[in-house]
Amino acid sequence: MKILMVCLGNICRSPLAEGVLRHKANERGIDVTVDSCGTSNYHIGQEPDSRSMANALKNGVDISYLRARQFSKADFEQFDRIYVMDQSNHKNVMALATNEIHRNKVDLFLNILQPGSNRAVPDPYFGGAEGFQHVFDLIDEACEKLLDELHQQ
Ligand code: 4NP
Repeated sequence: MKILMVCLGNICRSPLAEGVLRHKANERGIDVTVDSCGTSNYHIGQEPDSRSMANALKNGVDISYLRARQFSKADFEQFDRIYVMDQSNHKNVMALATNEIHRNKVDLFLNILQPGSNRAVPDPYFGGAEGFQHVFDLIDEACEKLLDELHQQ
């Protein structure tokens, strides 16, 4: 199973989702390939936002080794599932899809917790530190449920 996490900048939410899912999968011995990227080119090559790195570390997850990259059409072939953090990411990714197989791979990340709810992981970039903990808690819970599901397959 190959999973791609997608947000806008690939420096706040999606690197966290990548790091948390990999960390939990390793702990539980579940075989999953995980990567992340952004729909924008704003931060290509950069490490995660310092607030995202600090918050992750506080919660026991090191994401400092990750570097931002931009989503590309080739990702539709490389990955089995593509989880986007919000509706804007969804729109941008879907605009690059060329067939139904690609489109069926894409879903909002928080639909793992509440299928069909189409809730967004809020963008913490312009807010304070508490926003990063809220994002961490949402991502943590969704990754746990995703691994429960993968474990049963
Ligand atoms: P992310 O957060 O999409 O969770 O990585 C953002 C990072 C950068 C910007 C916006 C959101 N930006 O406008 O540069």
